[in-house]
Amino acid sequence: MLKPAIPTMEWTDGGIRIIDQTRLPAEEVYITLRTIDEVCEAIKALRVRGAPALGVVGAMGLALAGVVALRDGSPLDAAIRTEGERLRATRPTAVNLGWALDRALRNWDATEGEPPGARVAALIDEARVIHEEDLRMSRDMARAGAALLPRGARVLTHCNTGALATGGLGTALGVVIEAHAQGREPVVYADETRPLLQGARLTAWELKRLGIPVTVLVDGAAPALMRSGRIDMVLYGADRVAANGDTANKIGSYMLSLAAKAHGIPLYVVAPTSSFDLSIPDGDAIPIEERSADEVGRWGGRATAPEGVAVYNPAFDVTPAAHVTGWITERGVLVPPFPAAPS
Ligand code: MRU
Repeated sequence: MLKPAIPTMEWTDGGIRIIDQTRLPAEEVYITLRTIDEVCEAIKALRVRGAPALGVVGAMGLALAGVVALRDGSPLDAAIRTEGERLRATRPTAVNLGWALDRALRNWDATEGEPPGARVAALIDEARVIHEEDLRMSRDMARAGAALLPRGARVLTHCNTGALATGGLGTALGVVIEAHAQGREPVVYADETRPLLQGARLTAWELKRLGIPVTVLVDGAAPALMRSGRIDMVLYGADRVAANGDTANKIGSYMLSLAAKAHGIPLYVVAPTSSFDLSIPDGDAIPIEERSADEVGRWGGRATAPEGVAVYNPAFDVTPAAHVTGWITERGVLVPPFPAAPS
């Protein structure tokens, strides 16, 4: 198995061990999730987050449902299906979660008739394979993307797309990390990414520990930075790419894409083919998660807006395909029509 840059999640006999991303950058705390309630809570609270990471943890969650049902003597098939649906419902936008659960459920159906212990062992194996594949896809995307970066490239990015957002390497940030490893000296401008600050808290944390120069800016400063001529390329990830290339990603991505287009700056989406949903024609069909008003109205226990004021808090927006220069995947740089994703 490829070694993750940061051990973000790991199957252990008693459950799923993850780094709790809500505690970063102040504290590096690992927690072990031992029930499906705990896995669902961790996903909803963004203790584990990022589209590819959600796929891996979803597959591990289904395996955990099997382990728990075996231990408690509950009806196994019912537990797998019910808990699978609970996991699927935790976050609607990242297609990787449903993709991994569908794949693990197909594996479950394929072992029908085998002893219960062997069937659950097969689910654990499938989760390991999905994790391993994610690491390989990250490595291949990183190599394909690094080749596009000029020496000393000044890259603007949004949200967190590094080891923390994946099985342990990264998508857009993986490209920068690979370019750095090749001695091409990229520098990164990281949007703070309101309201939950994945850019400031997580991207800057990852880059700092790797010694890659990073400057954090408020999201609203990005268009002016582009206009100043200090950005060569915009790179971000995806939570779901529709068949026509419309791409859902963290709220604020659309604004970046408009500014990149206005200033003639290339914008690449970096995503494994498990983030592509060719069953939907365009971005209008992508479900957009709306999150709680408190994420906008409060921070660190203090009010940042008047109590009770109305809040609009979509977690994602859609970048029109026409704003994207190319989609960097493990199969190279693609443009629509995309080839079918592996199932
Ligand atoms: O709400 P989050 O933090 O899970 O959102 C994550 C993003 O939007 C990432 O940019 C996306 O998943 C691509 S990640 C590798």
